[in-house]
Amino acid sequence: MDSVSERGRNTLNLMSFMNVQAAQVLPDIYNEQKNPKGFINLGIAENCTCEEVICTKVQECLTFNPATQYYYPFGGKLNFRNALADFLSERLAKGMELDPKKIVVTSGVGAAFDMMAHMFAEREDCFLVLAPFYSAIEYDVFLRSGVKLHHIHRPVHDTNKLRAFSFDEELLEQGYQEAIDLGHKVKAIIVINPGNPTGMIHTRLELLTASKFAQRHDIHIIYDEIYALSVFGDDAEFISALSMPELLTNDKSHFMWGFSKDFGISGIRCGMVYTNSAEYLKGANKLSYFGGVPSVIQDALARMISDKAWLDDVYFPTNLQRLRENHDVMEKGLTSLGIICHPVKAGFFIYANFSKYMKEQTTAEELKLFNEFKAAKVYLIPGTGLKSKEVGWFRVTFTNKQEAVARGDFTQIRILGSRLDRIEAVLKQRS
Ligand SMILES: Cc1ncc(COP(=O)(O)O)c(C=O)c1O
Repeated sequence: MDSVSERGRNTLNLMSFMNVQAAQVLPDIYNEQKNPKGFINLGIAENCTCEEVICTKVQECLTFNPATQYYYPFGGKLNFRNALADFLSERLAKGMELDPKKIVVTSGVGAAFDMMAHMFAEREDCFLVLAPFYSAIEYDVFLRSGVKLHHIHRPVHDTNKLRAFSFDEELLEQGYQEAIDLGHKVKAIIVINPGNPTGMIHTRLELLTASKFAQRHDIHIIYDEIYALSVFGDDAEFISALSMPELLTNDKSHFMWGFSKDFGISGIRCGMVYTNSAEYLKGANKLSYFGGVPSVIQDALARMISDKAWLDDVYFPTNLQRLRENHDVMEKGLTSLGIICHPVKAGFFIYANFSKYMKEQTTAEELKLFNEFKAAKVYLIPGTGLKSKEVGWFRVTFTNKQEAVARGDFTQIRILGSRLDRIEAVLKQRS
């Protein structure tokens, strides 16, 4: 350890809850033939439901030629930024034209967060975030830049004033004041929409409230919409920040999206930021030298998202239908075990309340239950790992590999059965 810098030591020591768990689970994943006693993965935020559709398409779009052989603009080739601008204008901005010059390509949304912290905050400054949330962002902003997150807890249940996982001006102001009282300088607020783990879709009013709050305090606002095109509920209305010009007016408002979720290609490592901030664009373009999305990949993805017939007739209808089907099967299974599921219309998860099976309503008991699930070789994420204030909640992913592979026929029911069997066996011992 002596040969390692302090920065290096911090890097070695820092582990997010999800990273630690994933490192234990991934080498021992369930496989019907090769590892039937392995972990049933209901934890990792991957959508494998369209694996064959995406694999075929990406293979068709990949080409290597002299044009992809040499250095290129790491922060986004013009053809790719043009394709992204067209794609997002049509799918999320509801026709408002995006300017390709305001796009920077990043190696995933996680990398975009790292660069946000690098560009806009000093060590020990903080970003506000609405909790519960995808807690690995804590790692993304801290690992290199030392930026902290301060959580603003949203109520898990409807209250007189707020629906579950919603927020208002008062809640945001309270969170801001808490952070100041703790001695932090607040530099930004992060709004994840649709939510992970909640699947929560924010309303126009909530988005306006957050934007006004950010302007009032002169802080940055970061809209993470990585699940924006995974809205599967029939009557769900999703409003993207890109479709509300009043949200992206100043140079402190930033939109993020990526390919990991809506296209289920987290292995390709590609995300993007749309921003008015000339500083972020310039900084991120420089930093992307250290982790640029390869030229071949940018070209392939540009081709894929420009194929409107495939998107409209094949990919999106198939993906949304499979998300819906998988969600319904999982919700039914959990409900049959007496688990209360938060209603969800977007994303890959059900946020479910297991507190009726907990002897005490404490974090220690929630983690005990989590460890019992792990011992029974089923992996789901406890609310504690997602910075939930209320205990007893677990995030259950319904898009992981085993169900995707077996989707649509009796095998799905069988495999889902065995998966819920493992949850059920643990819960039975507790009742
Ligand atoms: C809300 C949210 N933001 C960002 C990310 C990071 O995604 P990427 O693979 O693009 O780095 C994830 C991944 O789970 C996520 O759920």
